[in-house]
Amino acid sequence: MVWGPQNSVQNKYSECILEMKDQNSGLLLNVFLRCYDDGFAFRYYMPDQNGPEEIIIESEESRFTLCGEYESWWIWADYNTYEKTYIHSGLDSTHHVAAPFTLRKENGTHICIHEAALVDYSSMTLLQAEENDHRFKVNLVPAADGMKVRTQTPFESPWRVFFLSDNAADLANSMLLYNLNEPCKIENTDWIKPVNYIGIWWEMHLGISDWAMTDRHGANTENMKRYIDFAAAHGIDAVLAEGWNKGWENWGEKDAFSFTEAYPDFKLKELAEYANEKGVYIIGHHETGGDIESYERQIDSAFALYQSLGIHHVKTGYAGPSPKGEHKHGQYMVNHYNLVMEKAAEYEISLDVHEPVMFSGLCRTYPNLMCGEGVRGMEWNAWSEGNMPSHTCIMPFTRGMAGPIDYTPGIFDIDLSYHKDERAKWNSLDQGNTAVHATLANQVALMVVLYSPMQMAADLPENYEGHKAFSFIENLPTTWDESIYLDAEIGEYIIVARRSGATWYVAAITNEKKRWISIQTDFLEEGKTYNCRMLMDKPLSHYEDNPEEYMILDMDAEKGDNVELKLAPGGGALLILEEK
Ligand code: NOJ
Ligand code: CA
Repeated sequence: MVWGPQNSVQNKYSECILEMKDQNSGLLLNVFLRCYDDGFAFRYYMPDQNGPEEIIIESEESRFTLCGEYESWWIWADYNTYEKTYIHSGLDSTHHVAAPFTLRKENGTHICIHEAALVDYSSMTLLQAEENDHRFKVNLVPAADGMKVRTQTPFESPWRVFFLSDNAADLANSMLLYNLNEPCKIENTDWIKPVNYIGIWWEMHLGISDWAMTDRHGANTENMKRYIDFAAAHGIDAVLAEGWNKGWENWGEKDAFSFTEAYPDFKLKELAEYANEKGVYIIGHHETGGDIESYERQIDSAFALYQSLGIHHVKTGYAGPSPKGEHKHGQYMVNHYNLVMEKAAEYEISLDVHEPVMFSGLCRTYPNLMCGEGVRGMEWNAWSEGNMPSHTCIMPFTRGMAGPIDYTPGIFDIDLSYHKDERAKWNSLDQGNTAVHATLANQVALMVVLYSPMQMAADLPENYEGHKAFSFIENLPTTWDESIYLDAEIGEYIIVARRSGATWYVAAITNEKKRWISIQTDFLEEGKTYNCRMLMDKPLSHYEDNPEEYMILDMDAEKGDNVELKLAPGGGALLILEEK
C-alpha cells in the first residue's frame, strides 16, 4: 500500500467466468464472479465483437433478494448528494437507497452492498423492486436524457460487491474494495504523501471570516502564515487555504472562479516559499461550484501552477449543480471525477474530493485519490442542527466502506453559540443554536476512528493553542502498519486499534449513550511493558451540557490487560501505547 489502514493486503479469491451468447443477436456477454473470505462480487464484461458501435444501457437489471429479517442503515438515494442523516430501519421502509447499503441479518451476519471500480459507467443506487418484497434492483443514476450508460465494446461494468462478516467490527476490517480494483498505475509514488492538516476553513463555516474578498477575507497572507507557524510548531504536516482565489463573489454564475489568480491579499508565491522553509505543505483548493466545463478548461494551468510552487495536495469541491442537467452521480460526472484524478496524477497532485461521486476503491489504482467527503460532514455542525453522536458510529460501516472520509473532526471549541451574531448566520439552515454534538475526547478519538490519509484537525489554531489535549493530535500518523476494529455495534460504539511502528493508538467512541467499554490489549507484543497515555471523558462529561471536560491519565499496560473505560454520552477516548 502507498498509504492505508494497513501496510499490505492479501488478495486471495476464486474466480469463475460465465461466457454467454444471445441466441438471436449473437451478442456476447460474460459475467465474472469472485469469492473471497470476506465477501463476493460480480461484474459484467462485453467483449469486443462485430456488433453495434455504440452500446446504450437503458437499465441494469441486476437484482438481489434478501431472505430473512434485517435491520439496515442507509440514506435515501439522491442523484446529487450523500450529505444526509442515516436512517436505521427494517427493510420494509427502505424504498430507494444509496450505496453503500449496510444490513444486519437476524442471525448477526453483517452485509454491505456496494460497487467497486466505477469507471466510465453510472453509479449504483438500490431500489426495492416491489413494495416490501426485499428484492433490490440496481438502479443506475440516469443521464440527462434518461439513458443510464453510453459505451462501446469492449466494456466492463463496476463490480457489484457484497461484504459479509459475522460482526460489525469485521465489516469495517475488510479490504475487499481494494482487492476488486486494479493495481497502482502510477509508477513513481514517492510524491504521494499522506498528511494531517489544519486550514483556513472552519472559520468560514462558523461565519467568523469570508471566502470572498470582504473586510473579513479569511485567506490572507498574515492569517495563512499564522496557520503555517502553528502547523510547524505542532507536528502538523499541511495547511489548507480556501477562498484564496478570485471568484467567490460570483458564486452560482458561469465561469465564476479563476483557479490561477489569487486574491491580492493572498501572496501565493511568498506563502509557498514560507511554508516550504517551515517544512509545511500547502493544500490548494479548487471549488468548482459544479461548473466542471469551466474547471476542465482551466485544469492544466491550475495544476501546473500548484506543481510549480511545490504544492502536492488539492481539495476540490462541487457545491452546485452540474452542467447540462446532468446528475452528480451519473456517468457524465463519473468521467469528470476520473479525469481530474488522472490529470492530478500527471501533475503529481493528491486529491481530497468534496461533493464527490461515491468512492469505489479506485484509490488503489490511483493512490493520489486520497479521500473524499460524500457524507454529512463536520461542516453541518457549524450551520445546521448538526450531526448526532450516533452519526459517526454509523459512518465507518456505511460511507466508510467506500474509502477514506474527509469528515474533518477534532473540534475543541464545542459550543459554537457565541459565534452567532447576525453576520455569522450565513446559511439559512442556521437557527442560532449550533454546536458540535460530541465531547472533546470524542473529537480527538475520531481522528483515529475515521481513517483518512488526509486527516484534518478542523478547529482554529487559537482553540488548540496551549491545550493539553492537542498533544494527542500532534504528529498523529496518517498511514498505518496495521488496523483492527476490535469491537463495534453499528450506531452504538466503536473500538479500533491502529499500529504505527511499535506504537499502538486505540480509539473508542459512543453514541448518545454513556457506556463502559473494555479494551482487551491482546494486540500488544508479549513480554513488553507499554506506557499507556489516555485522553478520556470525565465522569460528568456530556456532549450536550459539559462537552469540553476531559482528563489525561498515564498507566502501564501489557499484552492481555483489560482496560476498562467509561465513555460519556457522545464521548470517546484515545489511548497511545508506547513501549517503555
Ligand atoms: C463544501 C465543502 O464540503 C466545504 O468543505 C467547503 O468549505 C465549501 N464547499 C466551499 O468550497
Ligand atoms: Ca460538502
